[in-house]
Amino acid sequence: MKFIEQEFPSLRFRRNRKSEKIRNLISETNISANDFIWPVFICEGNNVEQNVPSMPGVKRRSIDRLVEAASEAFDLGIPAICLFPYTEQSLRTEDCAEAWNPDNLSNKASRAIKKAVPDLVVMSDVALDPYNINGHDGFVENGKIVNDKTVEALVKQALSQAEAGVDVIGPSDMMDGRILAIRSALETNGYSDVAIMSYSAKYSSSFYGPFRDAVGASGALTGDKKTYQMDIANSNEALRLVARDLKEGADMVMIKPGMPYLDICRRVKETFGVPTFAYQVSGEYAMLSAAFENEWLERNKIIIETLLAFKRSGCDGILTYFAPEAAKLLKL
Ligand code: PBG
Repeated sequence: MKFIEQEFPSLRFRRNRKSEKIRNLISETNISANDFIWPVFICEGNNVEQNVPSMPGVKRRSIDRLVEAASEAFDLGIPAICLFPYTEQSLRTEDCAEAWNPDNLSNKASRAIKKAVPDLVVMSDVALDPYNINGHDGFVENGKIVNDKTVEALVKQALSQAEAGVDVIGPSDMMDGRILAIRSALETNGYSDVAIMSYSAKYSSSFYGPFRDAVGASGALTGDKKTYQMDIANSNEALRLVARDLKEGADMVMIKPGMPYLDICRRVKETFGVPTFAYQVSGEYAMLSAAFENEWLERNKIIIETLLAFKRSGCDGILTYFAPEAAKLLKL
């Protein structure tokens, strides 16, 4: 980039900040409801809404309530929703068979939402953790998370989601080879228009704690996810993962967590120029919510500031639990 050679007083930055209209004209980044994907939690039952204690304001909803919320989100201009099921304990098993049950909670919710709000983009999560007795994203054998056998299961899970009408498949499992396997299966089974947003650079982060409460996986998890999720110290590896996933057939890529990893978002966008997303995860939401509840930070302003930071770092969109609230704020 070439920098200006003028000097003070011919150069005065404050001229471009003189009024709101000038600032609007000059602003390099814009944010709107079009940039949001809203992650939601689903539970069994009818007319049920349960609070998630570590995520104040976030709820698990039964499908009927979820459909209402999805339709409201759509009316607010939010283009996409991402489904996460809270699976009953009895359906969490070693073989994870509920993951590809055509009538599991996630698949039932996809069908219901696509029926009620057909134009809302529905994204799903591909990983075994909501269905696994031990809380891991892959099968565990002799204390190890096995890769290739897990990928076969993920393919079945992804196909069941495509069959249920999902528009965007979101593999969050971090197994090697899963994007290629899922893309090939989608192609050969008549789902060539189903997109894949790969959780390409998913770090082994402690910011996921509240999410694991929300989906009921925290008690179950034995050990950590460090043999498949990324080392929080790495940056070049994120680029290699993105390159690999793009080659294997990902249409969009994601970086996760969000705010503490904006350096990675910037590098990914600059290196590849592909549709790039970040996930403002549960721990980020919890951290901000705690500060809001204590009135240590100004809720409305901080929500928008954090989301704008993602756009500035190069992201095209953000998965955020604040989506409906932020969409309302942006309409003001
Ligand atoms: C699981 C999954 C996780 C999240 C999305 N998908 C948790 C994990 O990997 O343990 C985290 C989302 C959040 O923290 O908001 N496959």
